[in-house]
Amino acid sequence: MDVRNLISFDDVDIEWWDSLYALCRDIMSRPDDYRDACRGKLLASLFFEPSTRTRFSFQAAMLRLGGSLFGFSNPNETSMSKGESLADTIRMTSCYADTIVMRTKQEGAAKAASLYSEVPIINAGDGGHLHPTQTLTDLTTIARVRGGVGDITVGLCGDLKYGRTVHSLVTALAKFPNIRFVLIAPEVLKMPDYMLTFMRSRGMAYSVCDSLEEAIDSLDVLYMTRIQRERFGEETAASSIDDIMSRFTLTVDKLRRAKADLTVLHPLPRVTEIERAVDNDPRAKYFEQARYGMYIRMALLLKLTSLPRGASYPQNEGGHACDNPECVTRTELYLPRLVTPDGACGYCDKQKRAAV
Ligand code: NCD
Repeated sequence: MDVRNLISFDDVDIEWWDSLYALCRDIMSRPDDYRDACRGKLLASLFFEPSTRTRFSFQAAMLRLGGSLFGFSNPNETSMSKGESLADTIRMTSCYADTIVMRTKQEGAAKAASLYSEVPIINAGDGGHLHPTQTLTDLTTIARVRGGVGDITVGLCGDLKYGRTVHSLVTALAKFPNIRFVLIAPEVLKMPDYMLTFMRSRGMAYSVCDSLEEAIDSLDVLYMTRIQRERFGEETAASSIDDIMSRFTLTVDKLRRAKADLTVLHPLPRVTEIERAVDNDPRAKYFEQARYGMYIRMALLLKLTSLPRGASYPQNEGGHACDNPECVTRTELYLPRLVTPDGACGYCDKQKRAAV
């Protein structure tokens, strides 16, 4: 499959993943042979939202391949702060770079950018929507540690409402056989309906549980997440969550009930949801996971930076209305109408849309 942009894991197939992972394994086994593989290539790194790991791992990946990069991690340094549209910022940036990696607050912004770019767009997180390169990191870790990705029970714990890494991981795991989920979250941070609809439409088995202690012994992989306080809307009161979070905190004590070969993952940053003493347990793989993230991003950059340039800009701008207040179409009003086959917004995937 020819993949030009990595916006959502839903756009790629399992063969694409297999070939990317094979390349990643080769890079890990002989990294010196790749140190000039991207010589002369430029990555534009546009981070409109804070990032440590994702930004650093893309930088490290590009530099280890002999390529270079430019960009910003503070959007106030750009002309978007003067009112420039996302479309113009991307169209201009793509004149200079060979690939663009971007992180935004608005959901669907990477999809929007891909319509205006001459070069591949990599979604490094679009609000609470998706984060597919974290998913590449997660899949790489599961594959390395467990020998394969299929036939596992995965516990998703913490903030399943705003956690974009969780949404991306579910989207990706839909492509693997026999994946069962246990959704472990307080009611106020439960998995959004549009994701549950997606899981049902792909025949993915899931159960819901409101305590980690109850679920932990059945899990092969436990995916812990941070509470995304910065994304809380008015309907989510922070104080009501603090009181119940101990039910969703991983402790050495709870781990005693888990399988001996459990794999504990976390996209990081960790706040208080994993007790520090857990780090010494051999089942805790989250720092290894961060390292694998650099290697799989090397493989991704190698594949995408070598693609020929080209763009076909939208002819019919405007006309898209989405009722998700976080959707990119709410601020970039010129975006063309995009609807998924099941009637959801083609940018943010939210099911409920206003009529156009
Ligand atoms: C995650 C993100 O930004 O969504 N971090 C990351 O990229 N490793 C998770 C988080 O911020 O909680």
